[in-house]
Amino acid sequence: MLQNNSRWSLHCFTCGKEYGEEPISSRCDCGGPLELTLKHEFPRLEDFKGTGVWRYLKVLPFNDANSPVTINEGNTPLIPLDRMAKNTGMRLFVKNEGQNPTGSFKDRGMTVAVTRARDIGADTLICASTGNTSASTAAYAARAGMRAVVLVPDGKIAGGKLVQAIAHGATVIRVAGDFDATLELMMSQASTRRDLYVVNSINPFRIEGQKTGAYEIFEQLDGRIPDYVILPVGNAGNISSYWKGFSELRKWGIAKTVPKMIGVQAAGASPLADAFINGRETVNRLANPETVASAIRIGNPVSWKKALQAVNQSKGRLLVVSDREILDAQKMLASSEGIFVEPASAAPLAAMNQLKKFMERKSLVVFIGTGNGLKDQSAVQFDAENLPLVSNPRELAIHL
Ligand code: F0G
Repeated sequence: MLQNNSRWSLHCFTCGKEYGEEPISSRCDCGGPLELTLKHEFPRLEDFKGTGVWRYLKVLPFNDANSPVTINEGNTPLIPLDRMAKNTGMRLFVKNEGQNPTGSFKDRGMTVAVTRARDIGADTLICASTGNTSASTAAYAARAGMRAVVLVPDGKIAGGKLVQAIAHGATVIRVAGDFDATLELMMSQASTRRDLYVVNSINPFRIEGQKTGAYEIFEQLDGRIPDYVILPVGNAGNISSYWKGFSELRKWGIAKTVPKMIGVQAAGASPLADAFINGRETVNRLANPETVASAIRIGNPVSWKKALQAVNQSKGRLLVVSDREILDAQKMLASSEGIFVEPASAAPLAAMNQLKKFMERKSLVVFIGTGNGLKDQSAVQFDAENLPLVSNPRELAIHL
């Protein structure tokens, strides 16, 4: 049963059905995503103690006695982008989630979901992934002494992420198909087998962990809420998590406002942004999504409904950027600010030209840098053979 069940309720986001504990598939019978809600409680900032995700234990679905499965996730820096902000009048920051233990924001959710899995006696974690979730699942399974089975679309995930899953000892299964097919295949097994615990972002405990990024931003800005929070959208779990975190701060009376949530998708994998731009309230599945940003190469986002709600309620928007814009933004961030993110994580920055048209001067803007650039080295094109090669001071001097 849910720890401290009197404090928490679990219900379906789509049909409202209540659950005492999560079903084995982590998904409602109707297919909708589940949501945890903290009942009757209004925490205060003073209730938060320590650092990282577990600083927010008071608003996570556990009791105080729990010892978490942790490798020090969260507490990532909020870094000002002064050079890029120059002449815009705005204040720009990146929340560098690539500094999490496995190099992406997934670790925030994974520490919570795997602690939950351990508490209910699960022994095998399973996920479908475009790469980062598989790396994180593998690491946290290792930490908890559990088995990890990760399914990945064959040939479509970045090499560094595959290396991580293997290094941490996961069973890696390649699926002949794209991410959406991989997720469906995984769910077809996981929804019938009690021995598999699903840690994709449909798992409501993942969302609880990821929402802590919003609390951290608020605290790092000394109690201010940004005007805009901009993040890449794939399966749409993270934008829903941040929105949940910011909405809770307002609901509890800790913050007075909420940011406008801006979701960015890559052209070629933009079913959600397309629906938003065309004023549709449902999302059409996109066959064969394609983009250089492999992390968000997704045609059928599971949490689309939550994401649309986040964008609409916050008066935000969803945008599309091209692969060229993504790679240029990645390069600019790395070469002008010293921060190396993976292509998907550069999508928000790539949207800046579109965003400037409607953002007020003096806006406070936070980009979520979701993953570390080292994971996907193929995204940076260069020819090592063409780099200067020297063997003595005279040859070296020519290049200085
Ligand atoms: N950025 C990165 C680096 C990601 O790895 C992902 C998702 C996203 C953004 C999008 O987040 O799905 O919550 O909208 N990666 C998943 C994975 C799908 O399997 O690693 P989302």
